[in-house]
Amino acid sequence: MTAAATIYWFSGTGNSLAVARRLSAAFEGARLLPIASLDGVARPEGVVGVVCPVYFEGLPLIVQEFVARLDARALTYSFLVLTPGGFAGWAPVQARRLFRSAGRPLDAAFSVKMPDNYIAILDIPRPERQRQILSRAERALDEIAGAASRRERRLGVGITVPLGALAHLVMGRSFARACRRRDERFVVTDACTACGLCVRVCPKENIVLSGGRPRWNHRCEQCFGCINLCPVAAIQVRNRPTARRGRYHHPDIGAIDIGSQRRNAD
Ligand SMILES: Cc1cc2nc3c(=O)[nH]c(=O)nc-3n(C[C@H](O)[C@H](O)[C@H](O)COP(=O)(O)O)c2cc1C
Ligand code: SF4
Ligand code: SF4
Repeated sequence: MTAAATIYWFSGTGNSLAVARRLSAAFEGARLLPIASLDGVARPEGVVGVVCPVYFEGLPLIVQEFVARLDARALTYSFLVLTPGGFAGWAPVQARRLFRSAGRPLDAAFSVKMPDNYIAILDIPRPERQRQILSRAERALDEIAGAASRRERRLGVGITVPLGALAHLVMGRSFARACRRRDERFVVTDACTACGLCVRVCPKENIVLSGGRPRWNHRCEQCFGCINLCPVAAIQVRNRPTARRGRYHHPDIGAIDIGSQRRNAD
C-alpha cells in the first residue's frame, strides 16, 4: 500500500469502472471520481490515475476535455489505464500530449484488453470468450496495479503506435468532431417498454423520455451504454445490423453503477 490517490474514470458499459475499482484497491484511501460528474478545472495533488475506454483509436472526447482542463502541476505521479476491446491505438500519445500541456508529463500508460462493446461494428464476444478476456484482464491488472502503486514510469506498454496513429488519423478525428451528434443515428423499436433505464444510465443525461420513447439531445459521448443496457435491446443504430447483435455490460457492474457517474445521479 502507498499514498492516497485520485482515480478518475469514465465508462459506458462498466469495463472501465470495474478496472478503476480494482486499481483503487492498490492505493490506500484512494478516491474514485467520475469524470462525467465534474465541471471546471481539476487541481488534484499527489497521485492521479485516469481509466477509460478507447474510441476510434483515441481517448473519449469527454476524457480529452477533462485532461485539457486539468492542472497537473501538483501531481507526484500520474498514470493512464485504457480498456480497449482491441488495441489502445493513438490514445496514449494523445494523453501524453494533454498531460504535458496540463503542466506535468504523464508517468505511465497501461492498456488492458476488455470485451468490446461497440456493436455498430462488431458483435460482442461469445460468453466463453468474454470469460477468457476478463480472466486474462484480472491477471494483467494485478501487474498494472503493482506497477502503478510502485510509481513505475512506463510509457508504451502494450501499445501499437504506428498502426494506432494511422487508424486515428483516418477515423478518430472525424469521430471526435461529430461525436456529440452521432446520437442522430440511434433509433428505438416497438420493443421499448418506456422503462426509463436508458435515461438513468446515460452518463451525460442526454436522454429524455418523450411520448414513452427515448429522445436523444446531442450531448452524446457514444459510450453505447443506453444501447447495451436497454433490457429489451430496443435501441438500434440506423443502417447497422445491431438488431441481430448481442448486448454487453461488465458482469460485476450494473445500470445503477454506470448511472452513478451522472451529475444528478439519484
Ligand atoms: C464508439 C466506440 C468506439 C470504440 N472504438 C474502439 C477502438 O477504436 N479500439 C478498441 O480497441 N476498442 C474500441 N471500442 C471498445 C471499447 O473501448 C471497449 O469495449 C471498452 O472496454 C468499453 O469500456 P466501458 O465498458 O468502460 O465503456 C469502442 C467502443 C465504442 C463504444
Ligand atoms: S431502456 Fe429500452 S425499454 Fe427502457 S425506455 Fe429505454 S429504450 Fe425503452
Ligand atoms: S446517449 Fe447513449 S451513447 Fe450517448 S452518452 Fe448517453 S448512454 Fe452513452
